[in-house]
Amino acid sequence: MPDDRPPDPAVRPPSEVSVFVDPDGTVTFSDLPADLAEVAAALAGAPGEIAASCAIGQTPGREEGREMSDVSPLRLDGDAVVMLDQRLLPGREEWLRFRTPEEVAGAIRDMVVRGAPAIGICAAMGVAVAAADAPDEPAAFRAAVARACDVIVAARPTAVNLMWAVDRMRGVAARLAAAGAPVAESRAALRAEAVVILDEDVAMNRAIGRHGGELIPDGATVMTHCNAGALATGGYGTALGVIRGARDAGKTVKVVSCETRPYLQGARLTVWELARDGFDVTLITDNSAGWLMSRGLIQCVVVGADRIAANGDAANKIGTYTHAVLAHRHGIPFYVAAPTSTLDPTIPDGEHIPIEERAASEVLSVGGVRVAAEPTRVRNPSFDVTPWQLITAIVTERGVHRPAGPEGYGFRRS
Ligand code: MRU
Repeated sequence: MPDDRPPDPAVRPPSEVSVFVDPDGTVTFSDLPADLAEVAAALAGAPGEIAASCAIGQTPGREEGREMSDVSPLRLDGDAVVMLDQRLLPGREEWLRFRTPEEVAGAIRDMVVRGAPAIGICAAMGVAVAAADAPDEPAAFRAAVARACDVIVAARPTAVNLMWAVDRMRGVAARLAAAGAPVAESRAALRAEAVVILDEDVAMNRAIGRHGGELIPDGATVMTHCNAGALATGGYGTALGVIRGARDAGKTVKVVSCETRPYLQGARLTVWELARDGFDVTLITDNSAGWLMSRGLIQCVVVGADRIAANGDAANKIGTYTHAVLAHRHGIPFYVAAPTSTLDPTIPDGEHIPIEERAASEVLSVGGVRVAAEPTRVRNPSFDVTPWQLITAIVTERGVHRPAGPEGYGFRRS
């Protein structure tokens, strides 16, 4: 029944309020009346837990009319890196603040932020924040920045974007130190570099979308694995960027998202992101993929990557290799979409890609409920490597790359 009662003047209209709780326990608010601020401070929870909280559909900082494709899961804000806590999606949207290198590395390790490009951006921002907090004395400043780089770069091993971004930050620090620049100038340059890395990533993803969108037939159902979307990048996404690119080019596209055991990035993140962006998206269990392909229900597969070797072997979320084998069996094009920051031409092939093994608890429990007997031995490789022979094309911001010959793609240092 429609509620046509006049508004109760005692009831405040809903407003968008950000609540920030730093790891040291400091609580800050945006636009909160003083009386509510007191209550919120009392309820804010353990230090470092909640930065901002809001209902689904009310992402803080989200401007009127902005699409999900424009949304970035992290930003630099004063003395902190602010991240959307992806562990809680799709149930809750909370933003956390991280200040020290240890906190930033912990956020990457614990998957507050995840996805290769987003991890790289986060690392650069973490170094910038550490530089802002470093001593003014030049030698001590350089040592603090170097230490921040060492701590953050060790957070996760597979996504080369993490090393790539930290190397860029090291390069800026080294260049300014060699030029004898004042510490204040180095701080500003490191902060600017982190912002450039974010902006460049979004631009690369949009270019990937334009190139990759051309590969998607009008009316296609595209299967994807894990989350290689806005949430995994600075914005727009890589694999989901290709899907967005096809739609931006006027095509009709449907998406099948694999749930992506054990961490469920497909179920929790991709479905949420695409549904918010108005896509027709269907969730399947990972082991349904072959059956759907055999029924002619999938026209192509598009996935992201965490590291691509010189020959085109591509590491991505565990299960990707299985989908590639199935796609090959059924004659379905299998595309990998990634910015050139994901290329690692220093290694010849996928044998050299370090594969992260994550905690057994991710496999033993689903949504906090234990599903296997105690004790159970577990293997939990978080990534696998798809050999280049199974990849129809690799899409970067530079265009659509095909195997160059019998040795594979032949990516070189640029
Ligand atoms: O463990 P995750 O969630 O960080 O793994 C993410 C993936 O495997 C993505 O597919 C990859 O990083 C590409 S993201 C654009």
